[in-house]
Order: sequence, then C-alpha cells, then structure tokens
Amino acid sequence: MAEQGVNHGRRRFLTATTAVVGGVGGVFAAVPFIKAWQPSARAQSAGAPVIADISKLEVGARVIQQWRGQPVWIVRRTPEVVHTLSSLDQQLRDPGSENLDQQPEYARNATRSRRPDVAVIVGICTHLGCSPTFFPEMLPQPFDSEWKGGFYCPCHNSRFDMAGRVYQNVPAPANLRVPPHYFIDDNTILIGLDADPKAA
Ligand code: FES
Repeated sequence: MAEQGVNHGRRRFLTATTAVVGGVGGVFAAVPFIKAWQPSARAQSAGAPVIADISKLEVGARVIQQWRGQPVWIVRRTPEVVHTLSSLDQQLRDPGSENLDQQPEYARNATRSRRPDVAVIVGICTHLGCSPTFFPEMLPQPFDSEWKGGFYCPCHNSRFDMAGRVYQNVPAPANLRVPPHYFIDDNTILIGLDADPKAA
C-alpha cells in the first residue's frame, strides 16, 4: 500500500520517543532490584531513589547520602539522645511535627523517624538553604550553653535538635525535612520512596 502523506521524519521521532519513554518506565520498574543497579549521577539528580548502606555507621555518627542534589543525613542516635528528645518540647517551635510538609506521616512521631535510633533528614536549613553543621555532643557550645546535640546553622544561627526539630527564637521557620524512605533491611535504607513498590 502506498504511504501517501506519511511523514517519515515524524515517524522516526515518535519511534525514538517511545523507546525513551519505555526506558524511563524500566527505571522505575527496576527499583526493587536497585541493590544490583545504582542509578547514574544524572538519574539521581533527576530524582531517582538512592540506597544508603548504614552497616558501618557507628552509634553517634552520621553519614551523608546525596539525593536529588541534596544532602541527606543519616544519624545513628545514641539511647541517651533518643531519651533526651522528649525533654526538649518546650524549647521547640514545632515539637509535634504539625507542619505536615516537613515529614511523611510515618515520621510524625516523637523521634521523627521510622526507627528511634536512626534519623534520616534533609540537611538543608529551612531558613535560606545553608547546610547546618553537626554538633552531636551534649556539651555547652558558643551558640548554646545547654546544648543537647543536634545541628547548628552558622549562616543566621538557627538551631535544630537531633530529630531536625527547630528551636524557638531562631530565623528558620520549620523543622528540617524528612525525605521519603524505607528500610530494605536493618542496614539498608532506600531514600526517595515511602515503601517498596512490590509490597503495595
Ligand atoms: S540559612 Fe540557616 S539560619 Fe539562615
């Protein structure tokens, strides 16, 4: 049959576009197998989930994982820190995580986390976007003589506790954000999704 009016250039373009879209779909379908396939840096900055291995993360320490071009802090909190969190409410602006934009529902609890001992927090100040400094020790600091551990933003002196909750009377208006994440196993966290798509 004659192909009257067929635009071969357009057909080639559509074929190529379909192939690309199919490839993108393949990326999301591959999420359950992400352990064996880490996305490229370009895919990560575009929003692909990333895997964090915390098997070597010591109690009291922090590791930083990049996700969507942002630093995500993962902190293994000490039992003392977890215990202290509940004593800080009176000093905090939003101790109960009432601002629903700042964490998923499963992190709207006393420790703002899925597990009390592991904090997962986007390390960007909610004032003007600096990256706060980690001060885990419960020791007097120049910026707070009764410091109970947490994060201090040197840009304009905002302070956050070890759950990323902002103190009162600082410029930052909201708690640090908790990204979507879930535990694949005890030592592996997937950042970028709320749950395993296979389990849905
Ligand atoms: S950017 Fe952190 S206090 Fe201003």
